[in-house]
Amino acid sequence: MDGIPYYPVNDFGPLMKGMVIGGVGILHVFLAQFAIGGGLLLLYFERLAQQGKERDARAFVDGYFQILVLISFVVGALTGVAMWFTTIQVGARTIGLMIDQFHWLWATEWIAFSVEVAAGYAFVRVGRQLDDRGRIRLLALYATASWFSLFWINGILSWQLTPGRYLDGGGVWAGFFNPSFWPSLIFRTAVAMALAALAACVVINTLAMDRERRAALIRRASRFALPMALMPLLALWYLAVIPEDSRSWLLGGSMAMTMFVGIAAGASLLIGAYAIVGLVVKRLYISGATATLLLALAFGATAAGEFVREGARKPYTVRGVLYSNSLTPAEVAHLRQTGATATDPYPLRDESRYPSPQLVHGAKVMRALCDACHTMHGANGLVELTRTWTDDQLRQNVAKLQRTKSFMPPFAGNAADVEALVQLLRWERDGGPAVWRAQAPDQATLDQIARWLDEAGTTQVEVRR
Ligand code: HEC
Repeated sequence: MDGIPYYPVNDFGPLMKGMVIGGVGILHVFLAQFAIGGGLLLLYFERLAQQGKERDARAFVDGYFQILVLISFVVGALTGVAMWFTTIQVGARTIGLMIDQFHWLWATEWIAFSVEVAAGYAFVRVGRQLDDRGRIRLLALYATASWFSLFWINGILSWQLTPGRYLDGGGVWAGFFNPSFWPSLIFRTAVAMALAALAACVVINTLAMDRERRAALIRRASRFALPMALMPLLALWYLAVIPEDSRSWLLGGSMAMTMFVGIAAGASLLIGAYAIVGLVVKRLYISGATATLLLALAFGATAAGEFVREGARKPYTVRGVLYSNSLTPAEVAHLRQTGATATDPYPLRDESRYPSPQLVHGAKVMRALCDACHTMHGANGLVELTRTWTDDQLRQNVAKLQRTKSFMPPFAGNAADVEALVQLLRWERDGGPAVWRAQAPDQATLDQIARWLDEAGTTQVEVRR
């Protein structure tokens, strides 16, 4: 138990850590899904071309691929690397655990990704010189490899929210094929196809040919938006398999998350309705500007959806295994005894700011237990959340953290840690004066906090209805 790993800490100012990784992640997911759908779409158009069913299909394939490679490979790969850089800084223990558990599966995902990149570049370089068989094989390789990179990563990411039988010792495969594996895989495939269709409509509008011929290509491309019709069902399936408490937040329990669910669903509905009713059924023409606008709307839907997926996992980064502040449930009980900062080796960057050792202590507690999800004054700022509370109200709510809001982990420290944190929040609220209250808390206060800590216990409240 003494082996709690402490990784170097980072501070992103007013941005909370979760938002940094969320921002990079959303961009990356959007581009990666576009690349996957793009592969399938190109395979479809290449077949149309080779069967002589669509005379401009080949021109489209060659034009689209340049853009796919430029955007999704360059920006997609850059944000992919950026994901690794941010995860190791923001959630080193989580990403370490994921790599430990899924080592070879993750390596397999990397192979799929490497094949995707190699096939993609090969197609850009020599695609035009290849014969029909060569072209279709290379595109099929590209499309299969990119879809399989989704297959593998999807198992690892969905495991974080719904580890399922893995928690009962089911092993790696039970964790991989977890309860939300299939709904999430199929949902993302449908999203990927829709993104590819919208991007295709943008590209088609840039091709130098008359409107009639462009319209024919658009009708073909818009078929790729058809799986969007399944999205409401897939979303319900997904909702049905996620944990009870997560579901209750999405459906009203947490207003922020409920609104994001609404935005994701509403935007997807609008895009789906336009694509299916307008483009497929009514055979409307879509201009480059409209397609770009829909693509932007799809980006918003992706962002909202990813926000919800990440948010629904709270207070865990791996449900039942690791809390968002990188502590395991067993370690919480241990730290109640030893104090939250007993073995934290890192000094504060700005220690001289604080007029007393207790406030320095409070800042370390905040860093260890809260700053994965809170800042002091910025996003989800603790000072603002607690400004109007009385001191005792603050002490009690922090001591009973998992009961204050069920998306917070239990407080992993002792009474002196709570008091130090409370004093820090009050000091910050009052503008950081040079002289601060009494240096040591009185014993009666500490005893009261200890009772509150005991009442709250060290385990998460299981929400069952
Ligand atoms: C897993 C992420 C997470 C962690 C870790 C976490 N919190 Fe929170 N906390 C939240 C979220 C999300 C909210 C909700 C904010 C809202 O309702 O706008 C919240 C709300 C709060 C509130 C306001 C509660 C209310 O009823 O208005 C306080 C106070 C608070 N947190 C204190 C803390 C303290 C102190 C720590 C560290 C000991 C901490 N939190 C750790 C996610 C977290």
